[in-house]
Amino acid sequence: MVRGDEVNAIRLLAGRRLVRILAAAAACVVVWCGVLGWSPVGLIGSCIVVTGAWVSLRGWAAVVRQDGASRGLRVLRDGLLLTSRMREEGWEVLGIPWLGRRGAQLVMMVRSIDVPAASVRTQAAAGLAQVMRAHAVTFERAAVPGIWRVLVVYDDPFGRRGPQARSVMPEIMIDLGRREDGSRVVWVADQGMHLAVQGGTGSGKTTMLRSILQQAAAAGVTLSGSDVTGLLLPTGSESRMVIGARRLGAHVELLESLVEYMNSTTEQLAERAVTSWRQLPGVRLHLVVVEELPALVHALRADDLRAGRRPGDRLLARLELALQRLAAEGRKAGVVLVVACQRFDAELVGGFVRNNFAGRVSLRVDVAGVAMLHPAASREAAAALSAAPPGVGLVELPGLSVARFLAEPVDDSNYPATVTQAARRWGRR
Ligand SMILES: Nc1ncnc2c1ncn2[C@@H]1O[C@H](COP(=O)(O)OP(=O)(O)OP(=O)(O)O)[C@@H](O)[C@H]1O
Ligand SMILES: [Mg+2]
Repeated sequence: MVRGDEVNAIRLLAGRRLVRILAAAAACVVVWCGVLGWSPVGLIGSCIVVTGAWVSLRGWAAVVRQDGASRGLRVLRDGLLLTSRMREEGWEVLGIPWLGRRGAQLVMMVRSIDVPAASVRTQAAAGLAQVMRAHAVTFERAAVPGIWRVLVVYDDPFGRRGPQARSVMPEIMIDLGRREDGSRVVWVADQGMHLAVQGGTGSGKTTMLRSILQQAAAAGVTLSGSDVTGLLLPTGSESRMVIGARRLGAHVELLESLVEYMNSTTEQLAERAVTSWRQLPGVRLHLVVVEELPALVHALRADDLRAGRRPGDRLLARLELALQRLAAEGRKAGVVLVVACQRFDAELVGGFVRNNFAGRVSLRVDVAGVAMLHPAASREAAAALSAAPPGVGLVELPGLSVARFLAEPVDDSNYPATVTQAARRWGRR
């Protein structure tokens, strides 16, 4: 299946390339005609050369400007790249990257004075792959001693492509913000990848959830949610939006009703012998938001204790069961979770639930918190996050490695009406 973020990345890339090519071509025309006089052959030749060089250089410069992982990168000359670690080790880039690019692959030759240790190569390869948004980078010894061939593979050669993928093209793209290189972070909600948002108090979780709900509602998604804080969800559609801590049982009942909905949708899939909710007529995506899950968990635990409920009747146990089922099976039925926590601790939601969240966002959080959601994040990126301003964080989406980003909320001046209306779509076909 073609992933939505891939599709989006390809579109962005194609769009930018086109703009650059047109701008470079226009610049060539101006220079050639205005300064050097008119010669059609020379004009066309210079257009091709300058455009090609500019397009390539801009692409590499954009890679360098990215943060986090790319902080270790240096532009040596002409847009060539090297990690600082490699430079310390005495590496030097010999090839010109754009000349080495062949379709989905790029080959560059690098020279090292000493033979770099395998661990250095592995680290450099992983860093380069991340920064270049490549699927993989490998170092191979060339025939000449001291020279290494660096192969950058952009697309996963085993990724599925083809006409079948097109029929399940994602449609509901939620813009979460932008990376440091300006590229958009897009969460494709109808891929069914649940989204976890963690961050300390005041880090921007609620602001981000509001933006997600606003966009999802505008895209025709059915919304429901549990908001024990009462600060996220607007009042007006209480059966689908459980707000505040007064009726704790209602939060659990909401999630249980979603499990029932999921069961009935799954039964329909079996009856019609299809595998995705998208193939069922009239079925919409359901986005379920759970604001401040830890606060809900603690409130339910206290309520269970106070009421002296037996283990099987405890609200907390019912909540955990419902969350587990939605996290594990919601995808097929088109039920997607967005859960916000201060920290996504395993004891809070269970490692099993957490592993089902393929979309992960960390706003300001401590190093241990980053390690829980983004084991692949560098130590520097994790340390920097503990002092991040509101809205700045790390994001990890299916098929895209962890990256620093700024959550940019959309205009939500009509938020209460839009979201309430989306909650009322429940049950409508
Ligand atoms: N993306 C953003 N860009 C700029 N400022 C932001 C952003 N997100 C949040 N803020 C600022 O930070 C403040 C706190 O944001 P928000 O209430 O969303 O955080 P929170 O993580 O939900 O906090 P709490 O844990 O207290 O609920 C907001 O009032 C806003 O001023
Ligand atoms: Mg909040």
